Amino acid sequence: MSSLTVAAVQTSPAFGCVDANLDQALALIPGGCDLAVLPELFATGYQFRSRDEVAAFAEDLGPGTVAGPVVTRLGAHAAATGTTLVAGLVERDGPRLFNSAVLLRPDGTHDAYRKVHLFLDEKLLFDPGDRPFPVFRACGTTVGLMICFDWIFPEAARSLALGGAKVIAHPCNLVLPWCQEAMVTRCLENAVHAVTANRVGCEDRTGSELVFSGGSQVVAPRGERLARLPSTGTGAAVARIEPGTPDTQLTLRNDVLGDRRPGLYRG
Ligand code: ACM
Repeated sequence: MSSLTVAAVQTSPAFGCVDANLDQALALIPGGCDLAVLPELFATGYQFRSRDEVAAFAEDLGPGTVAGPVVTRLGAHAAATGTTLVAGLVERDGPRLFNSAVLLRPDGTHDAYRKVHLFLDEKLLFDPGDRPFPVFRACGTTVGLMICFDWIFPEAARSLALGGAKVIAHPCNLVLPWCQEAMVTRCLENAVHAVTANRVGCEDRTGSELVFSGGSQVVAPRGERLARLPSTGTGAAVARIEPGTPDTQLTLRNDVLGDRRPGLYRG
């Protein structure tokens, strides 16, 4: 497939209202999309008070496990519409709890990524991701997954690009103001598209209010914003993209991945 329609879906979840949050998110996914990205933890809300509360919303993703409500409803939507979905959810693996993103294909298969760089109180609530940044084949291209705060570590997007990702799917619950700008650079320095899906609204369940910044966007490999939503309100930022174009070759003699000098870099 040479071109794809992608959407960054911007939702406004109410904490703990899984069914209603799923209803809202599914209604916002535009018809005819090849790939739609939903925010981090879009079905549960973000500000958990305890690890026990996180566990109450967790879903198993492993082979042979019973699918939870998020995977079941998103999987059914993917199968019914032909849209590949990427969305944030709480993943349980035995005693461990991960802030994960699941990729669900219309053929009923799924893959997942466990957030590597935990933000703020996530460090008290979740286990840190234990696997490298993954790149999966989906919707006729290669899709790399990262979650929210991973944006501030250039290594995340770089790892995905070196792994062959042409499109980065990036579910978010952003509260710091810099990510949407930074993702322009991440796309430019890796020659990838990025679909950043953020939520709006606020939560104050722990005595420290978090305001989520919206601004969901689709960015192209030369840093062009193809679609962008405002900081408030729900919706979908939709763009038609050609994954892999433009490619990593920046000038006649420069390639953004090929010209790297890893032997001279620290750490
Ligand atoms: C974040 O990683 N949710 C800011």
